[in-house]
Amino acid sequence: MSFRHFIDTQDFSKNELMEMIELTRVIKQADKAGYSPKLLKDASLAMIFEEPSTRTRVSFEVAMTELGGHALYLKPGEIHLGVRETIYDTVKVLSRMCDVIEARTLKHETVTELARHAEVPVINGLTDYNHPTQVVCDVFTMMEHMPVGKKLEDLRVTFIGDATNVLSSLMLICTRMGMHFTHAAPKKYQPPAEWIEWAKANCAESGGSLTITDDPVEAVREADYIYTDLWWWVGQEDQIPERRAAFMPKFQVNLELFNKAPAHCQFMHCLPASRGVEATDDVLDHPRSIIFDQSENRLHTEKGLLVYFVYPRLKYASEENIADHKTKIEAALSKLPK
Ligand code: CP
Repeated sequence: MSFRHFIDTQDFSKNELMEMIELTRVIKQADKAGYSPKLLKDASLAMIFEEPSTRTRVSFEVAMTELGGHALYLKPGEIHLGVRETIYDTVKVLSRMCDVIEARTLKHETVTELARHAEVPVINGLTDYNHPTQVVCDVFTMMEHMPVGKKLEDLRVTFIGDATNVLSSLMLICTRMGMHFTHAAPKKYQPPAEWIEWAKANCAESGGSLTITDDPVEAVREADYIYTDLWWWVGQEDQIPERRAAFMPKFQVNLELFNKAPAHCQFMHCLPASRGVEATDDVLDHPRSIIFDQSENRLHTEKGLLVYFVYPRLKYASEENIADHKTKIEAALSKLPK
């Protein structure tokens, strides 16, 4: 049976991404009404993590449980991936035992290699290049918090800060969906030319727009959402003084900058946040901050994505088949020593 991986939102059309979001919306609605459909009954998810995680790990694990399946947390050092065993061998084995694989890998090439050899869908849970599950969640969250009188294609999203893996994915999904995306950062921390080319190509097709600037005040003037992320990540500790000097104070999302945006503008952050660094407490905890709705939506989005990629592949025995196997199993059991 054919199947697809979820490595990059660029591999999917606007319509397909909307289908994932619609699935997320109806499953969340059911969940809020107290109905948790067991759409992935008895299915297993292997979760490979080469880096720590709170939201991605918990949301995928809870999503599988609530959908009637099971998740295995395979943390660094617990499996042989790439050490004592090739990625190829590991992924072939996981494919025989699990219905889907989620992987957070240090290098993007690792997740693409997993996907190349997997016989079940692979879902990218963040790499050094992108974070596709996060940004499907982000677009869903923006749609839930749509400013009055606007539609998706009207939305103006401003990302302030480093060209992180979240920035790359957010820029690409927003432009693919026909939204208007602005990135404000010091020139040195703006996205590479290749990402800009891809985003511009998305705009040409979708009617969206892309602006890259080093002026955060201008960038927020018409923003419906201001979004930021960490200024440094694991492995960049030696760059902290240089990065802090480049971003602070001009690119910090503080109340002064937030107040330059329209009065309806909402604040987003993928979390974890360094409070007082890329954003201040008064913005993170502002009445128009939607960071915890956004976080909660990781759970609902993982459900939508898992169902989208796994549900069509699951096979369950017919009543007739079950009865036949029950008879055979009972016969085998009756021969066991008493
Ligand atoms: N936003 C996000 O991916 O959070 P975690 O690193 O906690 O998974």
